Parts: sequence; structure tokens; C-alpha cells
Amino acid sequence: MKINEAAKFLNTTAKTLRFYESKGLITPEKDETNQYRHYTENDLYRISTILALREIGVSLGDIKTLLDQPNLSMNHYLDIQRSALFEQWIEIRDMIGTIDRMIEADNNSVDNIHELASHLKNLKDIRSKWQDRWNFDGQAIDYDENIKKEGHAFNVHEGYDEGLATVEELVNPQSDDVVLDIGIGTGNLGSRFLKNGAHVIGVDQSEKMLEICHQKHPAIETRKGHFLALPLMDYSVDIIVSSYALHHLPDDEKLLALGEMNRVLKESGQLCIADLMFENKRHRNQVIENYHNTGNQVAVEVIDDEYFADKSLLVTYLIENGFVVETMQFNDILGLIFAKK
Ligand SMILES: C[S@@+](CC[C@H](N)C(=O)[O-])C[C@H]1O[C@@H](n2cnc3c(N)ncnc32)[C@H](O)[C@@H]1O
Repeated sequence: MKINEAAKFLNTTAKTLRFYESKGLITPEKDETNQYRHYTENDLYRISTILALREIGVSLGDIKTLLDQPNLSMNHYLDIQRSALFEQWIEIRDMIGTIDRMIEADNNSVDNIHELASHLKNLKDIRSKWQDRWNFDGQAIDYDENIKKEGHAFNVHEGYDEGLATVEELVNPQSDDVVLDIGIGTGNLGSRFLKNGAHVIGVDQSEKMLEICHQKHPAIETRKGHFLALPLMDYSVDIIVSSYALHHLPDDEKLLALGEMNRVLKESGQLCIADLMFENKRHRNQVIENYHNTGNQVAVEVIDDEYFADKSLLVTYLIENGFVVETMQFNDILGLIFAKK
């Protein structure tokens, strides 16, 4: 096909095709005598892929990377793009919400507008500053082997099996329910619901963890994503579970994460989190003091390094947002929150 025919066939313009060529995305054959371009079936297929990826916001540079690496799967790439778009969408939603509040504010003073703008800036900063300090990609391959439940000065995984089994018992999904496991890791919690016939979606920020999860449990739908920008539409899941993941976010971020869970959870949905948490500030101080007194400095350092939750803060947030909440504490550091919307 010549350039005008190809453009017409693909519902685009000859200028666009020449532009993609100038960026090295396509290299149609050229007639040696008159320099007319000739587009083969393969070229047309490649261009329609480029056009589709442009439509969903992928940059030309990223498209080139994808097309130049035949081993990179399209679905993998689309998953990354979906995750990025959800982050942008949530940021835009926050911006629109702030504009609404600015317009609604009774006293539309500069101070008021400034306060709302700084609140928005704070939100943006919180959402963008999270970093994987623990290198979960690096941990993925032997994560399951490294879950040590005994034999260490401080076992963060003491009670791991009991915690996960209790989540499983409490939520008990119906067949066809959508169950979302956030921070799914290698799938140890989410996979428990496959036998109920539930559709299990595992979200994780670590692509390597998702890869292992997929190898172990191909029936789980894995999605790259973040606690603070879940890659799911509003009111789209029946049950949310999470184990040993939320404590990688500081407490203010945990409340934003609960907001995200509330957004994607259907009315009457259930939420169950088993994680490292203290009852409240006093309990935290008591536990740390006990470790000090028994000379367990490792425990004190680990607690300082991670963000073991203050359960009372999470419970207060959930109750204020219309959930009915039950809690449990398995040992000094492992707790559970079960909430119904
Ligand atoms: C300790 S592993 C727990 C994995 C699994 N839930 C389990 O119980 O064995 C923590 C997981 O949470 C994920 N994670 C940590 N912070 C996250 C965040 N902000 N958003 C999404 N996933 C996160 C990590 O990538 C990792 O896979």
C-alpha cells in the first residue's frame, strides 16, 4: 500500500505516518526510483499497534522500547500503563475535588484557597514520595523460603499461618465474588480463595513478586499497582484482604490507603487486614519497653524501621467512614482488622 492508502486504511494521516518514520518507529520500504513508500501487512499491523498505544497515552519512547523488545509481553506493558494512568486519574480527581471545595467555600478568601491548595500539595507529596526501601523485587525469588516463623531473636512472621487462616475463615467469599489482595506478594493469602470459585485479583508494586505469584497461581489475576492508587474502578470488588503489606506505609499514608480501599469496595463489602500492628500508642510503647528490658535490640530496631500500625487509628477511620469493625490481636505485634461496609 502507498502512504495515502495506508493512512486511509488506518484512519490516520500521511503526516502521522511520516512522523512515526522520523522517530524510527516504522521503516517502510521505499521504491528506489521514485522513493514512494510501500507499506506491507506487517507495517500496517505495527502502525495499528502504535496508534492504539498512543490512544491510551503511551509515549513514543516507551512504544519504541516495547516494539524493539519482542520478548516484552504486550499485556505486561499494558498493566504498567494502567497502573500509571490510575495514579494520574487519582491525582486529577483530587485536583477537581479541591476546585469544588474552593468554589463551595463560604468565605472565598485567599487564605482559604491557599489552605486548600496546600492540603492538595500535601496529598500529592504523600502519594509520590513512597519508595520500596525493602527491595521487594530482590526478595521475590526466595520470599517464601525466607518466611521464618521461629529461631530468630525477633520473628515478625510469628503467627503468620494463624493470621492468614483467620482472614480466610472470616471473609469466606461466595463463588464469583471478586476478592482483591493488596500487597499480594507471592500469593499466599489470595490463593486461599480460589477454591471458593472467587475471582482473585492480586495487586502489588513489585513486578517480580507478581511474576512469582503468577507462576505459583496462574488463576490469580495480577495487576501492578499501589496501595495509594489501586488499579481498579470504584465499587468493583466484594472483598479486600491484605497481609503483612500495609505496614510498609507510614500511618498517614495508611489512612489514604484505607480511602482507596473504600473507593473500590462495593456497598456491603468486607475488608480484612492481618498485619504488624499495635492496639494503640500505649501498647506500642509497652511492647518496645519490654523488648528494651529483655535486651532485644533487634526487635526495637525493626519496629523503628518499619511502620507497624496503630490499630486504633485505622479502626477510628473505618468507623467514621461507615464500617462495622471487629479486631483481634494474635501476639504482641500481629493484629487483625475485619470491617464490613
Ligand atoms: C512482606 S510482603 C507480604 C506478601 C504477602 N501478602 C504475604 O502475606 O506473604 C509485602 C508485599 O507488599 C508489597 N507492598 C509493599 N508496599 C506496597 C505498596 N505501597 N503498594 C503495593 N504493594 C506494596 C510488597 O511489594 C510485597 O510484595
